[in-house]
Amino acid sequence: MNILQINSSLYSGNGQSSRLADEFVATLRAENPRAELVVRDLAKEPVPHLDEKRFQAFITPKDARTDEQKAIVAYSDALIDELRRAEVIVLGLPMYNFGVPSQLKSWIDHIARSGETFKYSEKGRVGLLTGKKAYVLAARGGLYAGSPADTQTAYVRQTHQRPCLYWQSETQALLDETRTDGIFPLITNDEKLSIKEVLLAYKHQPALEKRHEQFKSVLQVRPMMLKNHLRIEAFLFLYFLALLTEALIEREARQRMRKLNIKKLPLYPEERPCTAPTTERLFELFEDLRRHRLVDKNGAVQQRFYDEPSEPQRAALRLFEFSAKKYLAAAEEGGAAG
Ligand SMILES: Cc1cc2nc3c(=O)[nH]c(=O)nc-3n(C[C@H](O)[C@H](O)[C@H](O)COP(=O)(O)O)c2cc1C
Repeated sequence: MNILQINSSLYSGNGQSSRLADEFVATLRAENPRAELVVRDLAKEPVPHLDEKRFQAFITPKDARTDEQKAIVAYSDALIDELRRAEVIVLGLPMYNFGVPSQLKSWIDHIARSGETFKYSEKGRVGLLTGKKAYVLAARGGLYAGSPADTQTAYVRQTHQRPCLYWQSETQALLDETRTDGIFPLITNDEKLSIKEVLLAYKHQPALEKRHEQFKSVLQVRPMMLKNHLRIEAFLFLYFLALLTEALIEREARQRMRKLNIKKLPLYPEERPCTAPTTERLFELFEDLRRHRLVDKNGAVQQRFYDEPSEPQRAALRLFEFSAKKYLAAAEEGGAAG
């Protein structure tokens, strides 16, 4: 990846915008260690103002240019080549007197050349250097967000509408990786463990993962397009409350089993015994308990029919000191309310 960093602060590399750009480039390079970087500092090497002489050089046909005009065009060509080679452009952009620095404007005036970097079409000006990603790190003294003076944010929004993915094969990293084929290192950050203890702890891992999987799957949490981080936070908070409720029900069930000296409950299919009931299993147990109401044509309930709770269901209800009658009455209330 080729990165072109353009510093346009009059303070050169010390400007706030240049330092922001430096930090941003550092993160890009950390992710892409082979990225090549060119820094163009418009304060250290100012681009001359575009005047009539220089503009005339640009529009004079190639073969008719004087030596002086050739030198002017060669200078502009070099700036354009630098831009053409860059795949990613990082611009440090301060606000001076409500606009972009004149140093930057001079640079733009030297790289905006018809037939080189843009052309005129029926739709107006069309850019010719496409497929590049530009990042603008803007710095300013005042607060202009939402006001017409905020020209920079509008510009940044326009250039940052779509996330972009880059990838490349790291040949050396792949070669290094193949050397470890077949080797499975067991890594721990607990320095007190002996090698045997690390292995034993590792063997316990599937049990932990199973528990984690139960946490994830039971509530059927799925990634969604929540768009804004506050919704994600709210969503995770609800998830946290649901997990907490589940954990409390589970703890209550297990504590009651211990207190009542119940070693096992027949909660699994075929009334197979369960020593540590999960909330999921307790809820599942009551899923097929049916309740019907016979209503007349005015909607008034004439008669109620309930399935008789099975022995596993009764056992679970007893654990929570709920009689079958009380449970069904509560279910009826919930049903009527719902
Ligand atoms: C000559 C000059 C003009 C400035 N004009 C404005 C301005 O119009 N609005 C503003 O919010 N800040 C203005 N500032 C403040 C700069 O935008 C702010 O200090 C910014 O961080 C400078 O970035 P830099 O350190 O990269 O040059 C101005 C600063 C200077 C030196």
